Amino acid sequence: MATEQIGRTMKQEQARQGQHDADALAAVQRILQLHANEPGALLPILHDVQDALGYIPAHAVPVIAEAQNLSRAEVHGVVTYYHHFRSEPAGRHVIQICRAEACQSMGADALLAHAELRLGCGAHGTTSDGAFTLEPAFCLGLCASSPAMTLDDQPHARVTPKAFDALLAQAEGGRA
Ligand code: FES
Repeated sequence: MATEQIGRTMKQEQARQGQHDADALAAVQRILQLHANEPGALLPILHDVQDALGYIPAHAVPVIAEAQNLSRAEVHGVVTYYHHFRSEPAGRHVIQICRAEACQSMGADALLAHAELRLGCGAHGTTSDGAFTLEPAFCLGLCASSPAMTLDDQPHARVTPKAFDALLAQAEGGRA
């Protein structure tokens, strides 16, 4: 690719990213407006931002901090303390594997290890192709049918490694 063309492509990518950031910030501002008269609304705000954008963008942290009269470090601390909140966009599909007691007793650790090996990423990680994000969860309400997981919020019970591979294949059309 010619140098000029590379430069044009990079500028287009920067413009696209800039627009994406501006759209995200506009969504955050709308959410802050909704909670404008609620003191101590940091957690509901973070939940709303994640529901709207799929994660809490780093550039939203100072905006949220200012609106809630908190320091950036305080907001960042809450985002990183709760595993529910993501600081990066998730993959195209989100897998949650339950690690609570009933599932642990039925092989959840082995299932998680299988998932990490299969996906090539650890818990809280995303595959290099952006297809899957793997997250641990603590009780998905399927304790009697453990080990349990969700794939894009759809629950799956008594999941074996083979069943896990089949779900991956279904989700991404033959990945397994
Ligand atoms: S302990 Fe795993 S679903 Fe409840």
